This record gives sequence, structure tokens and C-alpha cells, in this order.
Amino acid sequence: MTEKLSDIANAMVAPGKGLLAADESTGTIKKRFDSIGVTSTEETRRDYREMLFRAPEGMKNHVSGVILYDETIRQKAKDGTPLVDVIRAAGAIPGIKVDEGAKPLAGPYVEIEKVTEGLDGLRERLAEYYKLGARFAKWRAVITISDGTPTWNCVKANAHALARYAALCQEAGIVPVVEPEVLMDGPHADHTIERCFEVTEWTQRTVFRELYDARVELEGMILKPNMIIAGQKCPKQASPVQVAELTIKCLKSTVPAAVPGIAFLSGGQSDEQATENLSLMNQIGGVPWKLTFSYGRALQHAALHAWGGKSENVAAGQRAFTHRAKMNSLAAQGKWSEQLEKAA
Ligand code: 13P
Repeated sequence: MTEKLSDIANAMVAPGKGLLAADESTGTIKKRFDSIGVTSTEETRRDYREMLFRAPEGMKNHVSGVILYDETIRQKAKDGTPLVDVIRAAGAIPGIKVDEGAKPLAGPYVEIEKVTEGLDGLRERLAEYYKLGARFAKWRAVITISDGTPTWNCVKANAHALARYAALCQEAGIVPVVEPEVLMDGPHADHTIERCFEVTEWTQRTVFRELYDARVELEGMILKPNMIIAGQKCPKQASPVQVAELTIKCLKSTVPAAVPGIAFLSGGQSDEQATENLSLMNQIGGVPWKLTFSYGRALQHAALHAWGGKSENVAAGQRAFTHRAKMNSLAAQGKWSEQLEKAA
């Protein structure tokens, strides 16, 4: 019997648990490996990800699901066990990135704006991923704040694609993680927190309108948004309390209560910043959905550096990963503090 979508979605946001985004495309993981001087090969990518998935405490206690890349969902651990089984053995749900990347959107802002592709043949790919063990999927749309952008055309095209993707996922028995990311590393200095609020609100409102039109069951999906935060080039940065308050305000005005959970992306924030902001939001509380993490960089950065591509550092890499997973698990319960961070 196929599991109910809402049961899977609820398990993905179980108390104190969140998602590990380990779905870097081959190009992106190469950049990460370049930063530690490791050659990116099928084997090194496998070794690195196997290290994370086998981090005993980090996975079992704090991670509800792992987002995989096409290569990884087909890979076997060094001992021959499929990585999907390693993840399941840790009590986590395997997921899969199904978009085929953000491509330049034809039009006046072709150098800046992007639309995510990957709908053609998606029904067939989802059926295969289901057989490979995936029970949730991810599709990321990116919205860029700059002089003149985002355009309505870009917001609408991306929201529409997200809704078509989400409907196809649910047809296949897979929970869609709907990710409309308003980038924080936009090219513009005038990228204030207020502008981020405005653009995120517009984007999310459009996404939920499209999800409604596509008859997506809100109980069987997860939203993966950006936090409301000033752009990295903006001279005026907001305090963590302001980020938490404005993020909650924006979500309250756009996300229906039927959605079981919201799992944030980290988007280039520092590890601790991403943790602190999430914890503050959960301290404020009073919202109808679970608020947790679906971090890539903010969960992996320390582990990647502790590992450094050396097999003798696997235990150190796992310790670094477990620490971040634990801190974010506390944050998902509003219980993180700087003291706990430093005590470890
Ligand atoms: P970051 O947390 O590094 O933004 O990655 C999350 C993710 O999956 C982006 O699509």
C-alpha cells in the first residue's frame, strides 16, 4: 500500500527533525570540493556523502529526510549497500532533486532572471525515483532582486512550473518540497530586508495561487522558502530578531494553515546565523505549521572542512555534521542558545 502523502509530509517535519539537502548537482559539488582541494569524482562524491549518511547520532536523532541528486540515489556505499538503504536504516526518508536547473529566462532581463526547467518527462522520472525509494522531491526556483527585477513574468513562470511539478509529484505518491528562493546574494546594494519581504510575499502568494489552480493537496507538501533577510551587498543588515519577526509575518500572510511544515533553506547564511534565526522563529511561535531546516551549506560546511577528503578524517567529519544537525534540531524546537553552541 502506498503511504499517505500527509503522513510522509508530517514525518518530514517531526518535532526536532529537519532535512539534509545533499542534492548538489555535479557542478555545485565540484565547487564545494574545490574549496577544500579535493578532486570531484564519482568515488569522492560517494565517500563524502556516505560519511554524512552514516553519522550515527546526527542522522538518527536530528534528520528526517535527505535530498539526493540523481547520481547519489543510484549509488552504493563502499560495502555495496545502496545509499538509499543507509539512509533508511538511519530512520530517514530518501528524497530526490528533480528539477533540471535554473536557466536564463528569455526577455529583457535574460542576464539576470532564471526559470527552472525539468517538466518534460517528469512523470516518467518520478515513477522511476519512486521505485528507487524516493518519497519526497525537491524543485528549486530562483528569484533575483535587482534594479527592475523580479518581473511578474519571472515570478509567474516559476510559480507555474512549481505547481505543475507539485501536482505530478503527488500523482506519483511523492511529497513535493516547493522551493521558491528569493536569493540573498543578488547583485544589488539596494536589496534591503523590506525589499526582500515585498518580493518574497509576492512570490509566495503567486506560488500558492498556482498550487490551488493545479489542485495540489496542501496537507501533502512542504514549503522550502528563504528567510526574510537583507541582501549580502546591502550595507544595512538586519538583526536576527528582525529576520525572525519579518519572516513569520510574511509566512503568516501567505502560507495556508493546511501546509504541515516549512523547512527553510540556508541560502548562504553562516552556519550559526541560519541556526539562530530558526530558533528565534520557533521561540516566537504561534504559527500553524512546523518550522524547521532543509539546509545544504549550513549543515555541511563544517563537516566538509573537517573531512578534507581524507579517510582518516571521517570520524571528525561526522562529529562536525552531528554537531550542526543537533544545533539545528534544537533550533527547530526554539531551544538553541549560544551557550549550547559553545559547550560542544
Ligand atoms: P542551502 O541551505 O545551501 O541554501 O541549500 C538548500 C537547498 O537545497 C537549496 O536548493
